[in-house]
Amino acid sequence: MNKPKFYITTPIYYPSGNMHIGHTYTTVAADTMTRYKKLRGYETYFLTGTDEHGQKIERKAAEKGVTPQQYVDKIVAETKELWKLMDIEYDDFIRTTDERHIKAVQKIFRRFYEQGDIYKSAYEGYYCTPCESFWTQTQLKEKDGQKVCPDCGRPVELTKEESYFFRMSKYQDWLIDYIETHPDFIQPPSRANEMLNNFLRPGLQDLCVSRTAFKWGVPVDFDPGHVVYVWIDALSNYISALGYTSDDDSLYRKFWPADIHLVGKEIVRFHTIYWPIMLHALGLPLPKQVFGHGWLLFGGDKMSKSKGNVEYPEPIVRRYGTDALRYYLMREMPFGSDGNYTNEAMLQRMNSDLCNDLGNLVSRTVAMVEKYFGAAVPAPGEYDENDKHIIEMFEALPELVDAQMNSLQFSLALGEIWKFIGELNRYIDITQPWVLGKSEEGRERLKTVMYVLCEGVRAVAVHISPVMTRTPQRIYGQLGVTDDSLKTWESVQRFGQLVPGTVVKKGEALFPRVDIKKELEAMEAEKAAQKAASQPEAPKEDTITIDDFAKVKLIAVKVEACEKVEGSDKLLKFTLNTGSGTRTVLSGIAKWYRPEDTVGKTLILVSNLAPRKMKGIMSEGMLLSAEDDKGNLKLLTVDGDTAPGSRVG
Ligand code: MSP
Repeated sequence: MNKPKFYITTPIYYPSGNMHIGHTYTTVAADTMTRYKKLRGYETYFLTGTDEHGQKIERKAAEKGVTPQQYVDKIVAETKELWKLMDIEYDDFIRTTDERHIKAVQKIFRRFYEQGDIYKSAYEGYYCTPCESFWTQTQLKEKDGQKVCPDCGRPVELTKEESYFFRMSKYQDWLIDYIETHPDFIQPPSRANEMLNNFLRPGLQDLCVSRTAFKWGVPVDFDPGHVVYVWIDALSNYISALGYTSDDDSLYRKFWPADIHLVGKEIVRFHTIYWPIMLHALGLPLPKQVFGHGWLLFGGDKMSKSKGNVEYPEPIVRRYGTDALRYYLMREMPFGSDGNYTNEAMLQRMNSDLCNDLGNLVSRTVAMVEKYFGAAVPAPGEYDENDKHIIEMFEALPELVDAQMNSLQFSLALGEIWKFIGELNRYIDITQPWVLGKSEEGRERLKTVMYVLCEGVRAVAVHISPVMTRTPQRIYGQLGVTDDSLKTWESVQRFGQLVPGTVVKKGEALFPRVDIKKELEAMEAEKAAQKAASQPEAPKEDTITIDDFAKVKLIAVKVEACEKVEGSDKLLKFTLNTGSGTRTVLSGIAKWYRPEDTVGKTLILVSNLAPRKMKGIMSEGMLLSAEDDKGNLKLLTVDGDTAPGSRVG
């Protein structure tokens, strides 16, 4: 039988720095969704990757003194390591520097040109390099008298170059109609309104789709000197990775259109305006859904490398494990909304949800089966009202979880599972196995209680498996569940699949209980130590770099004339020969020099100091002098003859 298909993507991330918790958030969500669909019997395809071209990367590489390719290769390797650590099971990792991708982009670009969607003209406007996006004067915002990007608030650059343009305007009405008639296309729905009201209804401008100002991109094969605009390049990854335009496009035929493009809300615009228009121009169907999730904030601001307010997953995973972080990311905030990330909240969740609720349930259940039944799961007897309540919840859970998972409400799906865990813990409190265990009659009843608990714990392990990749195996290990058919979605539809007689075995606590204050301190200390180790020795407070020094232009000058300044007993007015003319400079040294004694001396002038008016006279520089500890000044002179204008330094 043909399995239903499910194709999900993450954005392809810029390897302009290492991936942080923000990128991890999207990627874990896509991985969770893939695992959920797999559990539901789908044939899944999960694509992620890196967006490696563009001015930003080219500049970063230049700063480091390496080639752009060398620069991205290192970060891509580290990104893949991180995804391994996070148990991200992608099917493909596309890099925009892959030959297969470059070829596809060139073919797509050429086709747009040949069918008249793209034309050549001149571009003049503003460019935000961090966002790699074009803006018109009217779209810009202003901050501290500077023009800044309306999306990220960083300064934009005025760009003027010959470019190719895509006739976006031609498709505007079609796209408005498409969005209006496909309410599921943009999720959450508020983002659809934003696109319609802020971008589409006011009118689409043709988009500049090539650049000549830099080289690091996919070359336009019919016009050397131009590289394809990064967003046209990047968005194509979703089909180039499937082999679109290549000799083997079987994956494309199998999986396109994508079920979900998972993206952060700041790039919904590119995915719901440019991308649909590109696809429509190619005559291809649109992805079924673009889901724009919210941001992880750090200190109230979007976590972002360029702002420096980031947390990286590695230290957290090393201390508390992959599952603790995956659980927290999927549980803490409703998917779609923004939420603050704090290590403290992560640890609180670990202590309460994972250690107290889940961990205790498992350890108590297994310990009691060992204690009262020699580790063999007993066969249940008659079910009473308390048992039936649990059984009903058990059987209702799949539908509740499914409803939330299908709308990517991971937090609410976990909420349903944790309600069940809560009820299982309450069931222990109500049935009081430790009392039942004391009498013969009680032990009969205890058999049913223990069976209900073990079966409940098994269902929990199945339900958490899309989010938590390691804990289910540990629970199955303790419960003695080895049969894979008891780890499936089907096996949690009807209560009572666990075979009596299964031998349980107590293991280590699933999650340790931690002292939050101590852990936070330890993490801070670790961070500080790492920062110190990775930074080149900080310059001492009173040192400057050679570049700083070079900013000060010092020259030798010859005093041609000098007189007192009227109304001042401090200032002398110098007329100086600078080699290329004369300058007037005032100096506060009247107390130590008679004017006539300075004439003919060669002195040192800071010649690029901004001019300043004193006593109505404009002073064009500063003469250097040395001050002793009593405050006496002596002019700096040159040892021997030096032509006026000689550079000092
Ligand atoms: N290269 C483009 C995407 C091209 S897709 C065709 C890009 N890259 S990015 O490196 O800036 O990654 C942005 C994405 O990373 C966001 O859309 C989101 O998925 C994820 N996140 C990065 N920081 C994030 C937060 N602080 N919070 C949530 N997600 C974050 O844009």
